[in-house]
Amino acid sequence: MQISPDELLAKVGSDLHIHVLPGIDDGAATLDDSLALLDLHYKAGIRRIVATPHIRSDFFPNTTDTIREAYAKLQTVAAQHWPDLELTYAAEYYADDYLMTLIEADELLPLFDRYVLVETSMRSEQPYFTHILRALIDKGWKPVLAHPERYRPWHQRPERYAELYEMNVIFQINLLSLGGLYGSAEQAVAERLIQQGWVGAVGSDLHHATQYRYIHRATQHPDFAIVSSQLLLNHTILQADKA
Ligand SMILES: [Fe+2]
Repeated sequence: MQISPDELLAKVGSDLHIHVLPGIDDGAATLDDSLALLDLHYKAGIRRIVATPHIRSDFFPNTTDTIREAYAKLQTVAAQHWPDLELTYAAEYYADDYLMTLIEADELLPLFDRYVLVETSMRSEQPYFTHILRALIDKGWKPVLAHPERYRPWHQRPERYAELYEMNVIFQINLLSLGGLYGSAEQAVAERLIQQGWVGAVGSDLHHATQYRYIHRATQHPDFAIVSSQLLLNHTILQADKA
């Protein structure tokens, strides 16, 4: 099947998870790196992007100020290149003690509305993770779980997904997972979540333009047609008030 390169991601229309801000995490290092990612996304039909740099106290101690500064740098140039591309910023919060302090201080950057992107350890089960999700929900936030398919400790525990789904946690799968970047186990869990109808949002989670071939592969996966036809936060945000 031949897919026009202009239309690859048009059915999704927005990206809610991407490390595109220059120089503040393990994503785009320079402004040129950022622009390369935006260029690929624009050509693929993306018209709204929420930049989500890591906030993690041990490795990526970003703050609203560091994010806002990097965003301003990129936005100035992006607005000249792509006037109809809407670029906003939020963060990908690692669920740790620091996140708890931010929740208590009510200092979170949402994707939009009250939706907050959160991640946990991919290697080991963090017993307090559910507690942090509950703290978010109790404060009126709507947690969006980044890449549920990448949490290896849960791969043999389907009940963990059910527990979080029943808490109304929104599952955001990575298109890079569907494209096979991380391996067959992650791809298989992404497929299962799509087929269960449990995916509420998709993101690229792109860090580098070199990963884009896996985005192309994702769009050719039969489950991409399924997930992009479902009602996703990606579609809701296109209708939402501009930030
Ligand atoms: Fe990420």
